[in-house]
Amino acid sequence: MKQLLLTVLSCTVLLSPAFAADPVAQRQEIFKQYKQTVGTMAKTVKGETPYSKDEFAKLAAHLDALAQQPWQHFPAGSDKGKTDARAEIWSKPQDWKAAIDKHKTETAKLKQTAAGGDLAAIKAQFGATQKTCKACHDSFRND
Ligand code: HEC
Repeated sequence: MKQLLLTVLSCTVLLSPAFAADPVAQRQEIFKQYKQTVGTMAKTVKGETPYSKDEFAKLAAHLDALAQQPWQHFPAGSDKGKTDARAEIWSKPQDWKAAIDKHKTETAKLKQTAAGGDLAAIKAQFGATQKTCKACHDSFRND
């Protein structure tokens, strides 16, 4: 039993660096999904594609789920390589956290508003959500 436990432990230790190896690629992959989801929603908001309450609510719920995910992939030291992340993420952790919190608040509201189905309210809340993307990029991402 003890042997098994040790084996399990050493496997975990061996595996974990592989998972943590490329946090940059992991977070960029999530942001790509952001772009796709927000892009689809934007078309509806701009009137280019017809509004479907269910479809839009699904997208808003997906966006809210995505909004929980990128932030765990910003470990200290992951400002090297092919990343647009600015050093301020790690030198101003309180501002970084505030930008994340604001973003999560607005995506949660968007999810709620989308479930309600009032298109005018949805448009306003979509705008408020997008502002939190831009605000964070302005401070923490190199363009
Ligand atoms: C709290 C900060 C923050 C918020 C909020 C945020 N982003 Fe970003 N985003 C970043 C950072 C930092 C990067 C750079 C990641 C890297 O290159 O390591 C990034 C990168 C991206 C990228 C480029 C990914 C790639 O392929 O390199 C896209 C697209 C993107 N964000 C879209 C969005 C959208 C859309 C939203 C809002 C729905 C959003 N982001 C909200 C911080 C944020």
